Amino acid sequence: MAATHNSSPDDPFYQPADEFFPANNKIGLTFDDITLATLFSEILPRDTQLDTQLAEILHLHIPVISADMDTVTESRMAIAMALNGGLGLIHYNMPERQQLSEVSRVKNHVHGLIQEPIKVSPEQLIGDVLALIEQKKFGFSTFPVVDGKGKLAGLLSGHVVKPRYAGKKVSEALTPRAQVHTITKKELGRDPIARADKFFTEHIGIHKLLVVDDDDHLHGLITMSDVERITQERKAQFKPARDAHFHLICGAAVSTTRNAFGELDRERILTHVGALVERGVDVIAVSTAHGHSKGVGDTVKVLRAAFPKLPLIAGNVTSAAGVEYLADCGANAIKVGQGPGSICTTRIVAGVGIPQMTALYVTSRAAAKRKVTILADGGITKSGDIVKALTLSQAVICGGLFAGCNEAPGDVVEISGKLYKEYRGMGSLAAMKAGSAARYGHEKNPALKVAPEGVEALKEACGSVDRVLAQLIGGIQSGMGYLGAANLEQLRQKARYIRVSPAGQREAAPHDVVELKTGN
Ligand code: XMP
Repeated sequence: MAATHNSSPDDPFYQPADEFFPANNKIGLTFDDITLATLFSEILPRDTQLDTQLAEILHLHIPVISADMDTVTESRMAIAMALNGGLGLIHYNMPERQQLSEVSRVKNHVHGLIQEPIKVSPEQLIGDVLALIEQKKFGFSTFPVVDGKGKLAGLLSGHVVKPRYAGKKVSEALTPRAQVHTITKKELGRDPIARADKFFTEHIGIHKLLVVDDDDHLHGLITMSDVERITQERKAQFKPARDAHFHLICGAAVSTTRNAFGELDRERILTHVGALVERGVDVIAVSTAHGHSKGVGDTVKVLRAAFPKLPLIAGNVTSAAGVEYLADCGANAIKVGQGPGSICTTRIVAGVGIPQMTALYVTSRAAAKRKVTILADGGITKSGDIVKALTLSQAVICGGLFAGCNEAPGDVVEISGKLYKEYRGMGSLAAMKAGSAARYGHEKNPALKVAPEGVEALKEACGSVDRVLAQLIGGIQSGMGYLGAANLEQLRQKARYIRVSPAGQREAAPHDVVELKTGN
């Protein structure tokens, strides 16, 4: 937006990005070095929109992504992030097969129509069904019954799946086909959830609706509890982030895998990403510490050629040249951040990296020209940092903020009466031994002498992701209200900055009081 306002005494002090950052080009600035000036506002925080478009077919309802780290994002975290409107990137410090299962778990999370419900056959014994429930730890006991040709034979209701009937055949206990409520795929129409909702209202006491084709082959199952959950979701301000088929969205990170000769293992990368795509992955992140490098560029090129429409994230970089390089290779979104992370020691060990606000400004200008988006990755410790980061980027990636959540991998440990979870850098020795060495340009060989670029640490346990995100989103919305920004585009256009002195930084936090309770 062009600056059309009349000049004001504010102007020399509170400057827009294109004046402020070039005027401070001799010094690297990070979040606490700057503050945002307030502006006239007609916008209430609760009315702000946080939607963000990261690629043509990658849309989030909140601009927050959980980091692809082995103490942050596996399927539980990714499900929680997507249910809140954000995105989780499943890390790659695990066997490839396991990463596929993690993605499947997210994609198959409750989505209304269960396309492949667990079925039983008329010939099975109730005892077999009980054993199946026990073995697979199913939380339900009602099953569609299909014959050998896949045709619906009836419904085995939970109230007959009891040890008392263990010796009876399913065919003796089932509700016969004629009495089972079904709907055809055609009848479900364009809005299956609304159609199923109507059905359950009209049929008192019926909780399951089976979907069949014209030949009575079973094609799915809709449960009343799923429909109610989804109907509730539709009323929420921040809707879950879902794909076109109503599955939760999910990302997965990959590395620049090399073969025994040290060359990029294109075939293996393509096979694995192909399998991830088959499982429904929505975005792939080529994740390394140095994204402005041939290995990352070549990996992005290979993936872009094989999967022209697949959203690709690549990184990390901190320069305009790095953004241009990765954009030209085919990336849609670029991770920005080298050394700001709470567990990072890259700046200490390697002496490189750029404070995050300066890095975001420089990269954001290159990104706008190349029509790619940028993700502010690392160093975020509070919602105010997110607001500042979003004045220059399209989303943030957080590790430390989520590592203490229930949904992060790992167990809670108690130390002196306080509860903690492990949080380690992907460049820490332990994480590199577990597989992430390639991310830092090293071989996965603990015998080699490598300098770790991350620490192993603890984060205080902090409850559910829902709770943490509610605090963060509340903070982002407050910031937008102060700037009169109704959406993230307006936040980027309106932001004006000023540097903060060390005394100003002290003034910004609670001071000269004995704190009884923290803000959250
Ligand atoms: P926060 O500050 O959210 O940062 O905890 C998470 C981000 O830090 C990066 N990361 C590392 N950087 N050494 C580094 O220099 C490491 O060992 C390391 N592990 C993770 C990564 O970009 C992540 O999203």
